[in-house]
Amino acid sequence: MDTLTKLKEKIVSHKATVGVVGLGYVGLPLAVEKARAGFKTIGFDVQKQKVDMVNAGHNYIGDVVNEDLQALVESGMLSATTDFSFVKDVDFIAICVPTPLDAHQQPDISFVKGSAEAIAKHLTKDTIVVLESTTYPGTTEDLLKPILEKGSGLKCGEDFLLGFSPERVDPGNLIYKTKNTPKVVGGIGKEATHVIAEMYRQVLDSDIYEVSSPAVAEMEKILENTYRNINIALVNELTMLCHKLGISMWEVVDAAKTKPYGFQAFYPGPGLGGHCIPLDPYYLSWKAREYGFHTSLIEASGMINDRMPEYTVSRCGEVLNRFQKSINGAKVLILGVAYKQDIDDYRESPALRVIEEFQKRGADLSYYDPWVPQYRYKGETYQGLKELSPEALAKADIVVITTAHTNVDYEMVQKYAKAIFDTKNVMKNISKRENIEVL
Ligand SMILES: NC(=O)c1ccc[n+]([C@@H]2O[C@H](COP(=O)([O-])OP(=O)(O)OC[C@H]3O[C@@H](n4cnc5c(N)ncnc54)[C@H](O)[C@@H]3O)[C@@H](O)[C@H]2O)c1
Repeated sequence: MDTLTKLKEKIVSHKATVGVVGLGYVGLPLAVEKARAGFKTIGFDVQKQKVDMVNAGHNYIGDVVNEDLQALVESGMLSATTDFSFVKDVDFIAICVPTPLDAHQQPDISFVKGSAEAIAKHLTKDTIVVLESTTYPGTTEDLLKPILEKGSGLKCGEDFLLGFSPERVDPGNLIYKTKNTPKVVGGIGKEATHVIAEMYRQVLDSDIYEVSSPAVAEMEKILENTYRNINIALVNELTMLCHKLGISMWEVVDAAKTKPYGFQAFYPGPGLGGHCIPLDPYYLSWKAREYGFHTSLIEASGMINDRMPEYTVSRCGEVLNRFQKSINGAKVLILGVAYKQDIDDYRESPALRVIEEFQKRGADLSYYDPWVPQYRYKGETYQGLKELSPEALAKADIVVITTAHTNVDYEMVQKYAKAIFDTKNVMKNISKRENIEVL
């Protein structure tokens, strides 16, 4: 039996063993779904602490249901390890490792390389490898394939199948989870794509859309995220203009979105956050430069979005000015350091940049975030307030809302704060507004 047929049979009969490399925000929910669909699943991670937690049935990712994880571990369907020699036991491997930027905003592909090298050493014949990490077009064929072939001595297409299928998880989204979000699959070769797609069909309750190559799938993921990045930049720039014109951009967007076609609402904010939207477009601009091509829209939107934390602080300065206060020495209470509402992820969070800008100007800072009791930034650890009290609110010269968490008592914020700068318009339904200014 050839590789394709063998793998197809194992997938359809659920006899395939799945490996998920990287047990983070993307990998752990994926590992849980594979195991829930009846595939014995092994998670691989370099962090022993995460591996130990999974093996103890302890969940650490918001989108995973604790009881699901525990039951799967207890039944033996899900386990985790730091030992890559177990790669020899798996038939399907999904790679979900980080793809950040380095200090110079260049792609840091070292996690993809490192995990591929570790997999290659133990890769056996008749295995599928799928990269899910967001990356520039060409990564799967030009970077991953040679590493896997060299390290294993196997031939892609003959001995093992390789493809790219971007992860689209939106942490904290109550409707769309890993299980019901449509998936795009691009394998090396049409048949490989069908087999990889079949694997996802067995696991997910969503459409699986096949494309002609990994590069198309890699590019479509960057298109999705660049689309968001650029549209957010558009509303952020127009927000700065609207402030000068004396109109509310929030009201403008709400009006525009009554158009039933041709417009999608994006909202302003203090900047971009998370491991995707602020970073991924730069993977493309980096790749484009290899071809002497400049992705000018990405550069322009980066300039606008990167300016927003500073703009937020300067608008707060205007508010303080009305009270004859300078930022220097002002007591500033930041509400929210997570990059978006109702999650604990603060990677690339614009709130951290807002805090940094306030610090540079000599403000006296404190923060409260019900999801992030402490955070680390540039080597320092910051502790948040344990609770949001009327005293803490009243003590602040200005309260700056940087994350729209839903479990904050905004009535109380309005009642006790001297001045509020709301960058998320989260207080829009509060009727008393004398002390509220919106971005
Ligand atoms: N977080 C999101 O919302 C999201 C959404 C869609 C796509 N993505 C993409 O998915 C990828 C993973 O993102 P994430 O948010 O899950 O990252 P994460 O940091 O939460 O998790 C990555 C995990 O990989 C592990 N890891 C690092 N190097 C490894 C190696 N060599 N071998 C094994 N494990 C290793 C880390 O220890 C960590 O546990 C990124 O490319 C990201 O752009 C993320």
